[in-house]
Amino acid sequence: MNILSIETSCDETAVSIVKVDGQFPDASYEVLGDALHSQIDIHAEYGGVFPALAKREHAKKLIPMLTKALEQAELLHEEASELPQEHVEMLHELLVHESESGMTEELITFFQTYEKPDVELIAVTSGPGLEPALWVGVNFAKALAEVWNIHVVPVNHMEGHVLASIFDVEEDDKLVQVGFPAVSLLISGGHTELLRMDNWGTYEKIGQTKDDAVGEAFDKVARMMGLPYPGGPEISRLAKLGRTANLPEYAALPRPMLHSGDLHFSFSGLKTAVRYAIDGKELGETDMQALARDFEDAAVEVLIKKTQKALDETGAQTLIIGGGVSASEFIRQSFHAHLLESHPDVEIYFPNPGLSTDNSIMIALSGHARSANASNPAAARLIKADGNRNIAE
Ligand code: KG4
Ligand code: ZN
Repeated sequence: MNILSIETSCDETAVSIVKVDGQFPDASYEVLGDALHSQIDIHAEYGGVFPALAKREHAKKLIPMLTKALEQAELLHEEASELPQEHVEMLHELLVHESESGMTEELITFFQTYEKPDVELIAVTSGPGLEPALWVGVNFAKALAEVWNIHVVPVNHMEGHVLASIFDVEEDDKLVQVGFPAVSLLISGGHTELLRMDNWGTYEKIGQTKDDAVGEAFDKVARMMGLPYPGGPEISRLAKLGRTANLPEYAALPRPMLHSGDLHFSFSGLKTAVRYAIDGKELGETDMQALARDFEDAAVEVLIKKTQKALDETGAQTLIIGGGVSASEFIRQSFHAHLLESHPDVEIYFPNPGLSTDNSIMIALSGHARSANASNPAAARLIKADGNRNIAE
């Protein structure tokens, strides 16, 4: 079965075609096509993602990404045909909010140019994320599903990150065999959470941030230091230089919530402490490196200690770390080093580097999980019947 997956929850417009062979969670997955457009350049001048702009960009880029992914998968075949009037009307109605971008007309042309591809299921991120951005993807998925007469399965973006982290691209394109209970630490620009998994598809949130997400803190601190968006990779790069040069401490930064006795996080105090440390000064090169290192050390120490506590409390056999911030080399090394000492029997999984940040391959994996669990017709009805109201966490 081929799954077409769509991701538009934040600032990446992504479409993939993934061939699935077998049942979840033992299936093998072959990525036939994968097209991703990053909006980073557009949002960089705002220092963060600007929702209305993200929505407009998704509307512009979805059809090019779809075409590219289908072409890579060798599933794009020309066949001129008329689109029935009822479909034309349905598209105008469904995509009324995207019409200003020209998306509706473009999609009608697409349907009139290409035959229905060999795709059996559409998976689309339905939340969490930026509402206007999510809508473009969901409505686009519904439009394709209506015209091609196939099902749509709504996917939770966070489950996508979990599955991306255990997708063994190098070995055999399967999900690794996870020992349960497992703990998942999701660290991205929008989320910082600890989940307990007792089985596939079951997630209990056991910890989360009370304010900023850790990626958001990286991005905001970077902005204060005059670094470009997204700040995570920039902070990591400078911190590494500061660490290698063994620079003296620039600022004694707090480890928020470290002794709160629970599994929750808070990063806004840490961010404020960095602001006070900068205190309006122009930082020199070594100051920047030392401060980036101090900040990264503080953030990572909290992430590790809370995760160790979660592992103790759950008796987990497996730790799955995912989300954009998990791309950080320092975070990977630190977790491996500390957990080797404290929890040597716990298996740790990080995503393949290309799958750390948002992508649509992870949405195909989650779509497969959901279609297997919920039987896809039911899931499809859910997204069709509920119209615009089923975007949920
Ligand atoms: O998962 P993601 O692509 O989008 C969300 O769902 O939010 O995560 C994006 C976040 C940004 O905050 C970015 O600064 C951070 O991931 N990030 C990093 C690194 N690469 C991306 N943070 C620290 N170190 C990195 N190497
Ligand atoms: Zn994400």
